[in-house]
Amino acid sequence: MTDAIEVERERGLLTLRLNRPDKKNALTRAMYSHLAEALKQADSDPGINAVLITGSAECFTAGNDIADFIQQPPSGLDSPVFHFMLNLLECRKPVVAAVAGAAVGIGTTMLLHCDLVYVSRDARLRMPFVNLGLCPEFGSSMILPRLLGQARAAELLLFGEGFSGEQAAQWGIATEALGSGEAALSKAREMALRFDELPAEAVRISKQLMKASDRELIRKVIEEEGALFTQRLRSPEALAALTGFIKRH
Ligand code: COA
Repeated sequence: MTDAIEVERERGLLTLRLNRPDKKNALTRAMYSHLAEALKQADSDPGINAVLITGSAECFTAGNDIADFIQQPPSGLDSPVFHFMLNLLECRKPVVAAVAGAAVGIGTTMLLHCDLVYVSRDARLRMPFVNLGLCPEFGSSMILPRLLGQARAAELLLFGEGFSGEQAAQWGIATEALGSGEAALSKAREMALRFDELPAEAVRISKQLMKASDRELIRKVIEEEGALFTQRLRSPEALAALTGFIKRH
């Protein structure tokens, strides 16, 4: 467990707040493990009706910690990042995300697995996997072309083009874009608390039905992407790009 993830309980809502501001909430192995464990516990705790994943009103997350990518890259499906991915994919409770500022890499792809996503209009989302010598992850190579069409998904995944919270809402990646980071966080909390007023079993069954048709396929894609991503992390292309980032900072 790490204090870079703040866990807070408010009635039936479990909030998981990314809290590593000096590194733009970049996610370490310890943070993935903590998130994975918290999602698993929320899933089995009958007192929890929803989970909220958030950062600060200034920054969601800069994605995977780049030093970790070099020093302790994931080695397979038993790595913390995959536990996080699979526990989010399998979570039977509704998961709400509140996003402001930067949401890079897995900071964007995790949103594809949340049930409701509230963003600030000026949030900056980006998936620079290819730019870093890597490849798409967390089901994004399948989900984004389906959601946006191949033509737009190619710009986002092959060029790593950034886009705003406003665009994310227009494209259906986010539920709603709000005027400020504070407004996005507050709306997400308000909506997540609404699950306390709904019949929990009906919510659970409805989410299951909404996700059922694609769950196995997405899991397979996550595993295929993960195997290639893990190989790419050791490639000369990726090592040059990742060490370049470290040297610039
Ligand atoms: N991993 C590790 N450290 C990171 C990081 C990451 N993914 N992203 C940012 N940081 C660190 C920087 O090294 C810097 O640390 P330092 O002050 O000790 O030098 C600190 O966070 C602030 O980053 P900085 O780049 O100065 O902030 P910014 O506001 O100018 O830009 C981002 C914010 C998120 C746009 C930019 O940091 C960025 O692009 N990060 C890399 C994102 C990325 O490629 N993630 C991997 C995706 S697969």
